[in-house]
Amino acid sequence: MSEIVIDEKYTSPSEPSLHWADHLAVDMAPMDETHVEFVALLGQAQMATDAELMDRYEAVLEHTQDHFEREDRWMTQTQFGPMGCHAQQHDTILQVMREGLRRGRDLQQLPLVRQLLHEVGMWFEQHAQTMDAGLAMYLKAAEFDPETGIMAKPEAVASAPQC
Ligand SMILES: [Fe+2]
Ligand SMILES: [Fe+2]
Repeated sequence: MSEIVIDEKYTSPSEPSLHWADHLAVDMAPMDETHVEFVALLGQAQMATDAELMDRYEAVLEHTQDHFEREDRWMTQTQFGPMGCHAQQHDTILQVMREGLRRGRDLQQLPLVRQLLHEVGMWFEQHAQTMDAGLAMYLKAAEFDPETGIMAKPEAVASAPQC
């Protein structure tokens, strides 16, 4: 992250950069519910004062860990072909966000944390519409039940592509 150049506009609280809208929906209720919560938490962190920022940032990070763990579990349970690429993106984002937590808490680099929130929002918008949308389509085709981890129609996705 040492190459990140901090823009002046990230030195104070800002309006949320991302708002929930239809283009983010993947039409799978448990995934969409988590994504709605993520967008709300991200916005709350962006609007935070300096005194509030790191606690709100940590709330986004904790929610994101749960969010990604859940998707990773679904991919394992259903042997989702492109799991490698999708889970790798999750890991990369979590690593960057954990580094942001360290920089914010230990080094008080709050503008960097604010910029990171903005960039994570841009990343999420793209990820939701591509990787998450693809996973949701697959899970729906297989009639996957997130409660039980069972696919009612595994044959429907037997020839799904790999990464
Ligand atoms: Fe997601
Ligand atoms: Fe994802």
